[in-house]
Amino acid sequence: MRKLKTAMIGTGFMGKVHAEGVRRLGNVEIAAIAGSSDARAKAFADSIGVDRFTGDYRRILDDGSIDAVHVLTPNALHCPISMAAMEAGKAVLCEKPLTLDEAEARQMTEMAEKKKLPNCVQHNLRYYPVVQHIRQMIAGGDLGEILIVQGTYSQDWLLYDTDYNWRVEKSANGALRAIGDIGSHWMDMIQHLTGLNITALCAELATFHTTRRKPKHSVETFTGKTLRPEDYDAIPIDTEDFGAVLLRLGTRARGCYTVSQMSAGNKNRFHFEIYGSRSGVMWNQERPDELWIGHRNSANQVIVKDPSLLKGAAQGFADLPGGHSEGYDDSHKQIFKRFYAKVADASAPVDYPTFAEGMWGMHLLGKVVESSRKRAWVDC
Ligand SMILES: NC(=O)c1ccc[n+]([C@@H]2O[C@H](COP(=O)([O-])OP(=O)(O)OC[C@H]3O[C@@H](n4cnc5c(N)ncnc54)[C@H](O)[C@@H]3O)[C@@H](O)[C@H]2O)c1
Repeated sequence: MRKLKTAMIGTGFMGKVHAEGVRRLGNVEIAAIAGSSDARAKAFADSIGVDRFTGDYRRILDDGSIDAVHVLTPNALHCPISMAAMEAGKAVLCEKPLTLDEAEARQMTEMAEKKKLPNCVQHNLRYYPVVQHIRQMIAGGDLGEILIVQGTYSQDWLLYDTDYNWRVEKSANGALRAIGDIGSHWMDMIQHLTGLNITALCAELATFHTTRRKPKHSVETFTGKTLRPEDYDAIPIDTEDFGAVLLRLGTRARGCYTVSQMSAGNKNRFHFEIYGSRSGVMWNQERPDELWIGHRNSANQVIVKDPSLLKGAAQGFADLPGGHSEGYDDSHKQIFKRFYAKVADASAPVDYPTFAEGMWGMHLLGKVVESSRKRAWVDC
């Protein structure tokens, strides 16, 4: 089989994660790296042993031998870079949230359809083996009719006013920060698992640090903890630190979730609970191999990932035997595996989240903005 060639655009947190994950596939070569400058691209390319680098992603798009690109930049660049890549005939795997707004997401979705190119939005959190087991449980009726969804996505890395990242700036991030960054994962997950769309919502947002101190030089995600007071400028902030959202799903189900980037001690606590007319489940990303199953008339259970015990199609999402953890990195790899199967063979199934799903996610984020502005329920 021909080795596929790909390029990474963006050299920060996701640059590293995607580069490692793609290389684990074996049939995909990282042919080039694009960064925000030649120097940044070179430093990253050198660190992972890639010869070709550029500070201008358009140079990569001219290369007909490159099959696909990963768009791993701040959100505001997702649409222009993805559109240029598709124009050049590349398959595109773009990080979430897909764009700044629904209109941009529609542009990307239409372009991908017109060009018939594989397109993926990186909702990797769907692809933990235990999460896929939950999906099979729900599809098989183990929980009964889905009635209630609850949960949170809580972090603490923006707790202090000296914590700064491009995400706090609307121009780079989009209107919603905490809900756009991690609430987008929560809403995607709950719809993916239950098969129910969010039909209405009511959102409340809060910005506790209305001014943050910005480092005079840019810092990448999770790397700003060592700066001194004189290294900062004071910047007014209008993106939310916290959000709470009430939900209706389908016709009968109800739910609510919170997101926070200021909850001390929560590093990456993506937690959900789904309750049906028979049983319930709880899952927490910080303990990804464990699943709590709740029963009314028998003992509750905690099961641990073991491929031989996973239901049906969920087995295909576990590559290691029981007792061998599969975590965050593996969830990315599971998407890459399916996306590159499609890049290699146009007749392969679309077994990953597409731009169309990313567009629905952007629609919901727009509704969160509308609801919080109106201080009212809105239909989705
Ligand atoms: N799926 C997930 O679990 C997950 C996790 C974290 C971030 N993300 C998403 O990934 C994207 C990147 O986030 P991150 O945490 O890696 O941010 P980051 O700040 O660590 O990295 C962003 C990178 O983009 C580069 N960049 C900026 N302008 C560029 C340009 N014109 N050309 C090429 N590169 C450019 C920056 O130099 C930096 O290296 C965001 O959209 C974010 O929402 C997804």
